[in-house]
Amino acid sequence: MYRRHLHVIAFLFSITLMLANCAKNNTPPNLPSPEPEEDNSSLRERYSAHPDKWPQANWYDGVLKKELSALTSNPHQDRPELLALGKVLFFDNRLGNRNNSCASCHIPENYWIDRVPVASGGGNRNTPNMENVWYLDGHLMLDGRATTFAEQITIAIESPHEMAGSVSEIPSRLASIKGYKPLFIDAFGDFKITESRVLEAIAAYSKSIISDKAPFDLFLEGQQAALTDQQIEGLHLFRTKAACINCHNGPFFTDLAYHNLGNSLDADRNPDNGRANFTGKYSDWGKFRTPGLRNVAFTAPYMHNGSIMTLENMIDLLIDGLPQLHGQRVSGTLSPHIKKLDMTYDERNALLAFIQSLSSAKPEVTKPILPN
Ligand code: HEC
Ligand code: HEC
Repeated sequence: MYRRHLHVIAFLFSITLMLANCAKNNTPPNLPSPEPEEDNSSLRERYSAHPDKWPQANWYDGVLKKELSALTSNPHQDRPELLALGKVLFFDNRLGNRNNSCASCHIPENYWIDRVPVASGGGNRNTPNMENVWYLDGHLMLDGRATTFAEQITIAIESPHEMAGSVSEIPSRLASIKGYKPLFIDAFGDFKITESRVLEAIAAYSKSIISDKAPFDLFLEGQQAALTDQQIEGLHLFRTKAACINCHNGPFFTDLAYHNLGNSLDADRNPDNGRANFTGKYSDWGKFRTPGLRNVAFTAPYMHNGSIMTLENMIDLLIDGLPQLHGQRVSGTLSPHIKKLDMTYDERNALLAFIQSLSSAKPEVTKPILPN
């Protein structure tokens, strides 16, 4: 009796195995996508079409749909003489009172960052990459509190956490440095040194800092070999199952909007209330601007507080729906669009590989000679 049972079990087991094998053989080699798989062409073929014809993205209700796109050219083409002056000012450690310059934290060869969780100077924010900041005009600083470059640069010069100086003192300081005279003449036609000219030159230089084309851009231009199959799979996941595109979209992978991803405790375990610090609105509590993702593979550590050390860790946490580290509570309300994703380890690796395809060459910037 017992033996017969065993036979039946063994028989059922082998049928199950056979069925499982069949199912495996019938599954197309590509990833399941959330839409019905009536289209049998490969993901590579589907993504080789114009982005208008790409598979439908997984847009959440109420999101402004902005497709991913290739690097757009910088609309700011300032006079070279103005840029030259701006560059010198960017590197000059005499503007403020901490013997540092913009370039002390925005270090060009490090993709314009300092590679530490929070910038030296006692603030609680991570230094962002300067590439493509022209695109962020109107939404500058991690909480968007600076609506113009002049405002942002004034904060950088005057904040005790950055340069601890005063914009109004700069004209007299620079006037005492003879070598600045010809630079102002070249840039403005005369040697008058004013606050607004200083801000204008630094803004022009800041807006001229851009990233180079990435493999993702070359693929969009038709270079098939620029992306691996795994990266194309990652691109598909980014737009569909992982739904990253809802916030990271457009040519720079940011919707320029503000969201609460939690994990906002600073090193002293105080919450950074983000955008609410200056709007005072409860709905802005804990919100930060969506960062762009070009060259993000090189700009660890991540998040406004530099609390996440590696890109792998950042992706894993996003897949887990950003659990709150160290038992902290979310300051404000976690974005409803941050939720646990059902992804396999291969899919996670594909997503990572796609983000790495947004990388371009390391910036090569020659340091200017500071005037005396
Ligand atoms: C002590 C380090 C430090 C110095 C010096 C510094 N920055 Fe920054 N910069 C930061 C940090 C940190 C932030 C983010 C600040 C925030 O969100 O509160 C930032 C933000 C910015 C942003 C906004 C980028 C974005 O993603 O919104 C720009 C542009 C910028 N800095 C340019 C400059 C310029 C130009 C100077 C020199 C006048 C300068 N910085 C000096 C650390 C520094
Ligand atoms: C609800 C909007 C939203 C969604 C969805 C979203 N992100 Fe983000 N992402 C953000 C915001 C906002 C930040 C910055 C949060 C902070 O600093 O507190 C961020 C930070 C990041 C960072 C760190 C960047 C840096 O410079 O610090 C990476 C990498 C990233 N997201 C990738 C992804 C990927 C991959 C997905 C999909 C799995 C995704 N994000 C989904 C809004 C979003």
